[in-house]
This record gives sequence, C-alpha cells and structure tokens, in this order.
Amino acid sequence: MAESTTGPMVEARSLCKDYGPTRALSDLSFTISRGEVVGFLGPNGAGKTTTMKILTGFLRPTRGKALVGGVDVAEDSLTTRRRIGYLPESAPLYGDMMVLDFLRYVAELRAVPHAVRDERLRNIAKRCGLLEVLGKDIGQLSKGFRQRVGLAQALVHDPDLVILDEPTSGLDPNQIVEIRDLIKEIGKEKTVLLSTHILPEVHATCRRVIIISDGKLVADDTPEALAEREAGGLLRVVLKGKGDGAAPELEKVRGILAAVPGIRAVESGESEGGKTLGFRVRPAGNEDPREALFAASVAHDLVLLEMHREAVSLEETFRRLTRGDGGAHA
Ligand SMILES: Nc1ncnc2c1ncn2[C@@H]1O[C@H](COP(=O)(O)OP(=O)(O)OP(=O)(O)O)[C@@H](O)[C@H]1O
Ligand SMILES: [Mg+2]
Repeated sequence: MAESTTGPMVEARSLCKDYGPTRALSDLSFTISRGEVVGFLGPNGAGKTTTMKILTGFLRPTRGKALVGGVDVAEDSLTTRRRIGYLPESAPLYGDMMVLDFLRYVAELRAVPHAVRDERLRNIAKRCGLLEVLGKDIGQLSKGFRQRVGLAQALVHDPDLVILDEPTSGLDPNQIVEIRDLIKEIGKEKTVLLSTHILPEVHATCRRVIIISDGKLVADDTPEALAEREAGGLLRVVLKGKGDGAAPELEKVRGILAAVPGIRAVESGESEGGKTLGFRVRPAGNEDPREALFAASVAHDLVLLEMHREAVSLEETFRRLTRGDGGAHA
C-alpha cells in the first residue's frame, strides 16, 4: 500500500481491543491531522497505552483499523513504524550501555544511513540536552535524563509522527518543564500524540485534547472549547450595596437575580467578607443575560463590582467526563 502525503496523519477507526474477557477499547475513533500536537487523556486503565500500542503496530486490534499516513498499521507495520517515533510507558533502555552507543545502536536498528548518522545523533543529543552525558552509562543517569534518552531514541530515524506515553511521569517539576519545552520544540516540526495525567501540561503543549474513559471517546476538542462548553456561559457576579454599608440581604438579591430575563438559575451565592455578595448564575440556553443583569442591579440600587464568564478548568471537565470509571458501571 502506498504512503500518502496528504490526508490525516493518524486515523483510528472503530478500534476494539479485548484482552481475554477484559474489553480495553470499544469502538474508539479519532483522527489526527499532520502537524497537530494532541493530548491523550483518560483515567488509569482507560486504554491510552493500548491505543498507542495499536497505533505503533505493537498490538493488533480485536476489531477496527489504525492507519498512519494512510497505511493500515496491521497490514504494513514496517512502513508505518518507520514513520513513527515511540516512547513507551516504561522505556526499555539498556542500563549498561553508554548513551551514545545506545543511540548509535538504535540508529543501526532503524537503518539510518551512515552518511547522516553522526550528524543526526549530534543534533538530537543537543536538542534533548544530552551532550554532557553521551559518555555515561544509561543506568547511572537520573530519571529525567533517562527520559531524555527515551525521547532521543524516538527521534533517531526522523519520524513524522511522535507518540509519547506519559513522557513526564515520575519527573520533578523542573524536569517536567524542561521535557515539556522539548516536546513543544518537537511539535513545531512533527505530529505529536502524548498521553499524560498532568492536565496543565496539556494546556502548555497541546492544541487539541482527546479524552477517553473506559475504552470510549468522551471528548475531542481544543482545551478552550472544552472549557467553554463545560461552563455553558456560567457567569460570576459580585454585587454590593451603595456606599460603605453592610452587604444587602443575600436571599433578597438572589431573588432579584433569579428574576432577570435570560437567567435559568442562581447556582450559588454567598456573602464575601461582609460587604459584598458573590453569585454563580446560569443563563438559559444560549441567552446572554449580562445587559439585563446590569439593568436589574441599577434598578435595585445595587453596585455591580464584577461580572465575567466562568472558566471551567480542564481538571473539572476531565473529572465530570470520566468519573464513572473503574466503579459504578460495567
Ligand atoms: N496485557 C494485558 N492483559 C490484560 N489486560 C490488560 C493488558 N494490558 C492492559 N490491560 C487492561 O486493559 C485496560 C486498559 O489498559 P491501558 O494500559 O491501555 O490503560 P491506560 O489508559 O494506559 O492506563 P494508565 O493511565 O494506568 O497507564 C485496563 O483495564 C488494563 O487492565
Ligand atoms: Mg498507560
């Protein structure tokens, strides 16, 4: 089958995977375009590693298809593997091998032409911050440096697609930031799919996020669009009475807000520091009640100190979409 240079980089078509009686993936479909950097999220056991193993040709799906560059991975895993750099969940590195020897060995395995090999390895070692440890045994390196070696080995054959299974797991915050910057750099040239449990990482590196739960797709969007949709136009409103006096009566103001046209519900309200009242207000459908809210506060002698759209964090979104996992349902 011919490799294509147009069309999506990755296509998962109705992937199913059973490990004996355990259904790890059921009918999972998504596509990734060339050049995208996509975060792959899901609770423990959701099926991220399984999906990545299928995409990289290490595991066959029970049903469905994975295509990389238009080529069916199960039919031609040699062709597709050449285009993929893979950092597995626990990277198999040879502890008693020197970093440079290991990278040369990987280059040999992946048939990198000798003419470009040393130059390529030098560039990758430089980008991955490995120059000063090239002569050290991998087994002597800290976890962060071992992870860099893992990333470097994934880049040796100059793949178009890089699949990283929890590239920052177990690293300290400084190392996380360094590896994250490295992934951002890689993302400028290559298509990247990375799984992680660190949600701020997704904001920092990914333009799109795919969330799976229990082997099924539950979200596929930009982090911003997800947050907006989850928030559903929720507004935070802070009010006070005129002048310097105590806050107006909470229940009375709640009633005033609830009566504003375009507002479905006042979801929370509390007195804040004795002088001001804070509310979370849910608009009805696609209504924008902000002008009516302003008018109502003026009409009732209230001072509107603050009014803004609430953002829902990716963390909250993740928890809402995946909280059934591992417990209540089959
Ligand atoms: N080799 C295997 N044999 C049997 N079951 C397996 C095997 N590998 C994975 N599973 C099961 O398949 C499901 C998906 O596992 P997978 O490792 O893909 O999840 P994950 O999303 O990568 O989780 P984590 O966040 O913990 O890495 C789990 O229920 C897991 O127990
Ligand atoms: Mg995993």
